[in-house]
Amino acid sequence: MSQRPDLPAAWALDVPVLNAPMGGVAGGRLAAAVSAAGGLGMIGNGSSSTAEALQVQLALLGDMDRFGIGLIDWVLRKEPMLWRAALDASPVALSVSFGTDFGWVSEARSVGAVTITQVFDVDGACRAQDAGVDVVVARGLEGGGHGEPHRTRTQLLPDVIAAVDKPVLAAGGISTANDVRAALRAGAAGVWIGTAFAACPEALTTAGQRATMIAASGTDTVLTRAVDTALGYPWSPQHPSRVIANEFSRRWTGREEALAADASARAELREAMAADDTRVVPVDAGMGVGAIEAARPAAEVVDALMRS
Ligand SMILES: Cc1cc2nc3c(=O)[nH]c(=O)nc-3n(C[C@H](O)[C@H](O)[C@H](O)COP(=O)(O)O)c2cc1C
Repeated sequence: MSQRPDLPAAWALDVPVLNAPMGGVAGGRLAAAVSAAGGLGMIGNGSSSTAEALQVQLALLGDMDRFGIGLIDWVLRKEPMLWRAALDASPVALSVSFGTDFGWVSEARSVGAVTITQVFDVDGACRAQDAGVDVVVARGLEGGGHGEPHRTRTQLLPDVIAAVDKPVLAAGGISTANDVRAALRAGAAGVWIGTAFAACPEALTTAGQRATMIAASGTDTVLTRAVDTALGYPWSPQHPSRVIANEFSRRWTGREEALAADASARAELREAMAADDTRVVPVDAGMGVGAIEAARPAAEVVDALMRS
């Protein structure tokens, strides 16, 4: 077998762990903590992010200059100032996911950032490679938040590794040292982990969201478009999000058209968001959520993931 490409030396990693750029969850404090623990911390920008919101999180990095920034393709196009702010921040990595236009790659490279995108099938991996993306994330359907739920991580990862000559990060449901070992043994250059970091005290999650994640088991998650529909976000139907199922997701998943026409249900969701009521507001999480037993600091999570 040919030698697998390594992750970029510029990331100066002690451990091959990146926290996923979770919008509204992975801010500057979490990114700094993951980088301080020897991984690479990523600041996420979600569906409602703006340049100002990114600046607030950048300020929370403190002295940490080893960090990445992640964006969502349609948000980048809607918020050109956000993209500008991301470029101006001189991140060592820039990820853009959920799009097919890779025009951003050359701009990201021009500021010295290593480029990353998430892929969900082999075709997507080849398109990313052809577009010059430096690092590919093979994201299985177990993953939390948005994705294209085609195949499990263990099905997808070897096929993506075989298809591209770029370093591949494994993602989706990685929450234990066993998961990390299995991904590295399968040829992944590292791991891209969201849910396992979402309950850290350094994350932007609320107390209610953390408690819901700690109480959930891995079989409690569901794919839904209900939240995006209620909030009016223009996600394409091929990108549902994985959340911890609750009253709201059970009532509206598969009935998104009715939800779009129901102003009182949409208002109920917004009010519940303001009140941190996770009986109504579904919490984004992947199938690895069952392994979260407490709100542990990011350094402890990294340690536990890398335990041999
Ligand atoms: C709370 C949450 C928010 C997320 N937000 C984003 C985002 O803004 N941009 C993005 O590219 N991916 C986002 N993701 C998806 C992650 O990049 C990644 O695919 C996923 O977290 C991997 O699966 P895991 O959560 O099981 O580790 C999010 C995931 C979670 C759990």
